[in-house]
Amino acid sequence: MSAQKEKYSVDIGDMRIKYKNKNETFTEDNLISKEPIGQFKVWFEEACNTPQILEPNAMILATATRDGVPSARAVLLKGFGTEGFRFYTNYDSRKGRELSENPHVALTFYWEPLRQSVRIEGIAEKTSVEDSDRYFQSRPYANQIGSTASKQSSVIASRQTLIVKERELVAQFPEGQVKRPSCWGGYLVAPHSVEFWQGQSDRLHDRIRFRRSKANEKIDNILVHKGEDGWVYERLSP
Ligand SMILES: Cc1cc2nc3c(=O)[nH]c(=O)nc-3n(C[C@H](O)[C@H](O)[C@H](O)COP(=O)(O)O)c2cc1C
Repeated sequence: MSAQKEKYSVDIGDMRIKYKNKNETFTEDNLISKEPIGQFKVWFEEACNTPQILEPNAMILATATRDGVPSARAVLLKGFGTEGFRFYTNYDSRKGRELSENPHVALTFYWEPLRQSVRIEGIAEKTSVEDSDRYFQSRPYANQIGSTASKQSSVIASRQTLIVKERELVAQFPEGQVKRPSCWGGYLVAPHSVEFWQGQSDRLHDRIRFRRSKANEKIDNILVHKGEDGWVYERLSP
């Protein structure tokens, strides 16, 4: 190994923490809802009520090019319901460009103090112009200016480039008069799979996945269980 390689080589193979106790297992009986949105709501609220979790709505969004080359980054969940999960971004950014050629996405939440994670897979679609306008206008002035100043994901020479742009915009658009750039708006991810993962100290982690039922699918109530609103659920090996 070269000296440089050795200097930066870190082995964290032994790094692991204690998860939940046996009496905190997540079984099918513990499901609050037989469809994933109600279940997500309960877990999300628990995350919101956990003071150590500073941004419970932070999630990792994975997209891919048309050829399937993946990329992932954090975004903030801004709303959810039976129609799906909503976030806002720049449509011309890397993720925006990837979504325009391939709408398949994956979202992952990890709430470390709760040892819980939720994995969502689905199809992303732009939200309406009205929805994007409404949300943009509800944002603080600095955020409106910031997202207008930034051609997200483009290469820039320095931080100063952004500061100059920001000053120009502040002079041009007083508070309350920033128009939403047409390249900025929302996406709604309509899920077809939502998995709830709960870590256990014996490493027999619990995984219950909801997915849309297939046409004429046989529900055996052993491996596949009937859910509500067109969903089925099943346990996955950790
Ligand atoms: C906690 C957190 C929340 C973020 N929320 C958003 C967001 O809601 N929308 C957004 O466009 N970028 C958000 N970002 C920045 C993105 O992670 C990313 O840098 C940016 O969207 C550009 O990604 P892209 O080049 O892959 O398109 C957030 C970053 C972090 C760390």
